[in-house]
Amino acid sequence: ALVLCLAVAAAYLLGSLSGSLLLARFFGAVDVRAAGSGNAGATNALRTGGRAFGAAVLVFDLVKGLLAALALPALFGLDRSGALTCGAAAVIGHVYPVFFGFRGGKGAATLIGVLLALMPMALLVGFAVWVAALTTTGYVGFSTMIGMAGIALAVIVAPGALAAAKLFAIAMTVLIIWTHRANVQRMRAGREHRFTRVMWRKP
Ligand code: G3P
Repeated sequence: ALVLCLAVAAAYLLGSLSGSLLLARFFGAVDVRAAGSGNAGATNALRTGGRAFGAAVLVFDLVKGLLAALALPALFGLDRSGALTCGAAAVIGHVYPVFFGFRGGKGAATLIGVLLALMPMALLVGFAVWVAALTTTGYVGFSTMIGMAGIALAVIVAPGALAAAKLFAIAMTVLIIWTHRANVQRMRAGREHRFTRVMWRKP
């Protein structure tokens, strides 16, 4: 149990390394929490700092999820449910980073890293849902919520899925919906930002 606690703490600290806040200076970008949607994540990095910054943040935050779900559990000799717990801790660190006043991102990129490591098939389902939703609506946040719900559904109906995996998928869906609550409000008020084809091409 002590080993698991240490690994979870390490995963949380790793998750707390917010890509958008740490990489901003290298890209001459502002504090993304003061621009665009105000979110410290890859989508808002793209929106406020351009494609290179957005891509760098996406990779950084994704790799941290990958490391938390693969490298840390290997290092500490954890089983699959231990790895899922570490993955969840990294996502929570990203959302509530101890190094940045507990004001982080919404967890999507880090969660993608965790899913890539531990449930790639479910991630594929979620990605298909995400692409379909994004191309039809232009709302990234909405697409992320729908994509995550698709992942949870896929894990729940998958034959032989671990109870820990189902619990993880449900918990992450709840967290993702919670972190996107402002997006839901903006959509209802008709003020949510949309990505159009033109926006993606903006430098
Ligand atoms: O996970 C972030 C994305 O789903 C939404 O980001 O900046 O549009 O709120 P944003």
